[in-house]
Amino acid sequence: MYRLACVHCAATYPADQIVYTCSRCGHLLAVQYELDTIAIDRSRWHRRPLSVWRYRELLPVKREPVTLQEGGTPLYHLKRLGEELGLPHLYAKHEGMNPSGSFKDRGMTVGVSMALELGMSQVACASTGNTSASLSQYAAKAGIPAIVLLPAGKVALGKIAQALMHGAKVISIRGNFDRALEMVHELCISHGIYLLNSVNPFRLEGQKTIGYEVVDQLEGVPDRFVLPVGNAGNISAVHKGLNELRTLGLIDTLPMMTGVQASGSAPIVRAVHEELPEVIPEKNPETVATAIRIGAPVNAEKALVAIRATGGTATSVSDDEILRMQRDLARMEGIGVEPASAASVAGIRRLVEEGQIDRDERIVCVVTGHLLKDPETVIAQCAPPCEIDADISLLLSALSS
Ligand code: F0G
Repeated sequence: MYRLACVHCAATYPADQIVYTCSRCGHLLAVQYELDTIAIDRSRWHRRPLSVWRYRELLPVKREPVTLQEGGTPLYHLKRLGEELGLPHLYAKHEGMNPSGSFKDRGMTVGVSMALELGMSQVACASTGNTSASLSQYAAKAGIPAIVLLPAGKVALGKIAQALMHGAKVISIRGNFDRALEMVHELCISHGIYLLNSVNPFRLEGQKTIGYEVVDQLEGVPDRFVLPVGNAGNISAVHKGLNELRTLGLIDTLPMMTGVQASGSAPIVRAVHEELPEVIPEKNPETVATAIRIGAPVNAEKALVAIRATGGTATSVSDDEILRMQRDLARMEGIGVEPASAASVAGIRRLVEEGQIDRDERIVCVVTGHLLKDPETVIAQCAPPCEIDADISLLLSALSS
């Protein structure tokens, strides 16, 4: 049993009401379970495959889910990078290994299942790319049409390719993501289309399973959870999920929730450092990490609570630091991620340099999307292949040069 509750004024709404923000005060909603009525049998969880649906007692979906087998992503020990940074317990949760290549699939398996459960026949989102790729894929699986709005010229190639190939109606807006989100929200409300951005509280329910999987994989709670922050949904989701495990008595501490933004797009970092009650939107966000090129994060209110309540922090990293970490992960650890994903680990390098990290901490960085999402940014950083005539002596000389 659950209902929707406003995180600000505590107004509640029945589970089957289609509502994205509190109609009384306009703030965010969250799925609120009657946790004392939910019995969790951990050994039963462990008999199910590591995946989003292992944790179905703590998910809102009652019907057969629309699933492409999301979750169950690897947790890698970053041995070489950790040695360089002096952090022996540094890990990366590689969310690029999901069906569409990003963590968004965890949200979409739940969100699109809920769309069907609520009787909705069309879905939509605004996106910096990954949300649109994921929604297109899950809408295709569900057999319903999807509309996606993208900021023109600012979405990585692989993500557009996915949205197009999976058959979404793809519209490029001459404006940034924040404007596209306002527009799609309005469209959904006026036309009865189901909105699947992270303002939708059901999306975050799926994404919270990142935290559950990490607790299972580490057989305990890490000291710190580090996430790249754009719209601030994912950091909020992981915190909510772990908080539920604590209320249920399944864990007894929470990790320090740590958010990393690109320095050209860092309203959450500013709010944390200046101890502001709410974020001041960044009007013209800019970064090579286009996935997190967001100036007005809709989930800021939840994210600030997550960071402050756990003694976490937020930091920003330059585009150069992001790209350097993208190359380091690729070459030192064999982990291929897109720029936004490298931001989480780049943020840890920054915090270590600033002396803000205890070297004994067990740290999990979420790397959110796959390298192939943004091939253009990869190619721009690497020397092109050396082309030769098909001759063995030319091959040998090319190898020795
Ligand atoms: N990393 C990647 C690869 C992303 O695509 C996003 C968000 C984030 C991190 C940040 O997550 O928004 O929950 O704080 N991408 C969204 C999109 C905005 O449209 O694909 P967040």
